[in-house]
Amino acid sequence: MDIFEKVVNNLGPLGQFADAGYGYYYFPKLEGEISNRMYFRGKPVLVWSLNNYLGLANHPEVRKADADAAEKFGMAAPMGARMMSGQTKYHEQLEQELAAFEKKESAFLLNYGYMGMVSIIDSLLDRHDVVVYDSESHACILDGLRLHLGKRFVYPHNNMERFESQLMHAQKAANQSGGGILVITEGVFGMPGDLGNLKGMLQFKEKYGFRLLVDDAHGFGTMGNAGAGTSQEQDVMDEVDIYFGTFAKAMAGIGGFVASEKRIIKSLAFKMRSQIFAKSLPMPMVIGALKRLDLIRTHPELRDKLWIIVHALQKGLRDKGFDIGKTQSPVTPVFLKGGVGEATQVVADLRENYGIFCSVVIYPVVPKGVIMLRLIPTASHTLEDVKVTIDAFSEIRTKLSEGKYSTGGIPDVADKY
Ligand SMILES: Cc1ncc(COP(=O)(O)O)c(C=O)c1O
Repeated sequence: MDIFEKVVNNLGPLGQFADAGYGYYYFPKLEGEISNRMYFRGKPVLVWSLNNYLGLANHPEVRKADADAAEKFGMAAPMGARMMSGQTKYHEQLEQELAAFEKKESAFLLNYGYMGMVSIIDSLLDRHDVVVYDSESHACILDGLRLHLGKRFVYPHNNMERFESQLMHAQKAANQSGGGILVITEGVFGMPGDLGNLKGMLQFKEKYGFRLLVDDAHGFGTMGNAGAGTSQEQDVMDEVDIYFGTFAKAMAGIGGFVASEKRIIKSLAFKMRSQIFAKSLPMPMVIGALKRLDLIRTHPELRDKLWIIVHALQKGLRDKGFDIGKTQSPVTPVFLKGGVGEATQVVADLRENYGIFCSVVIYPVVPKGVIMLRLIPTASHTLEDVKVTIDAFSEIRTKLSEGKYSTGGIPDVADKY
């Protein structure tokens, strides 16, 4: 079998409509400055699909810090991996400030959250260790686990009964192998928007003797009274053993970090292959992240603004009878009934006729017959944006129930541009 023959005939679960949807449903180009209002195929759209939670992407101080750092250092500096030649006082300063913000002894920067998370998991475990993890874990957790040679036990999303029964299996397995137990969860689950039940999980910590690793990509900067994340929201900052955050969402940057005890960070710094064998984060990313962190700490009104929009959007949708699941975070899923063909037409109608750009999730990510539209409110949205969107969604829902979208497959929009 020729590898090329095989890959061109199998584009994977996301690639089934690759040709028909290219540039529209897949790889759409949003143009203009990052904000609530951008352009899609030359037309203005109200955007609900960017994780620019605090509106920092275009904050004037952020833009200036990024530009000044790029001017002073260029994009190349520092050269090499941290361990070899890519260390700077700015990287160290950012790590110290992140550790203090997360109330941990120490922190280490990661070039891209995804790569970092894979390596955190890989570095913590050997084949004797056992992992217990949530069934709706992000790809970076699943891919980290692909490197794990020992046992793993998955529990249904946030199901604490099954969590405990999997802990029992894990304890037995760990006793046999002589390893330890690592529990991994997300802080905010990025698709449904509900929170990992950190508090509930931690009740079992002593009994089963595990360590808890929390991927808080969506919670860092948005959750907790100071924006320190889901562990702060649930008042368990001390009990979370390893905290992971990304700069790609609330910070509107690139990179991420891991925070924990000093001895653990020291070990990770010498073991995380994606960091040891890859170039250090460029200086503008690091200096830009220092500025963003400073704004998160000193401008709580950005978070207040975010939550005003979140509450207005979620309450407004619920009041109109929309099913938005169990979200407890800004992530706002809207569940509608319909097939894949209808989903594509709903999205096209929203974009072309209502000027609303949001992400859509279809089978197999959600069950057959379910369309999930996913809205990400941010501090850059307005209450008027919320109103316009809820009105549009109400009309869309009526059309959907009247069968107005069931006329066929994917509308011919991909080659209109
Ligand atoms: C839960 C979760 N973890 C990790 C990541 C990866 O972060 P990054 O974009 O920094 O690689 C994401 C981003 O989608 C995420 O949602």
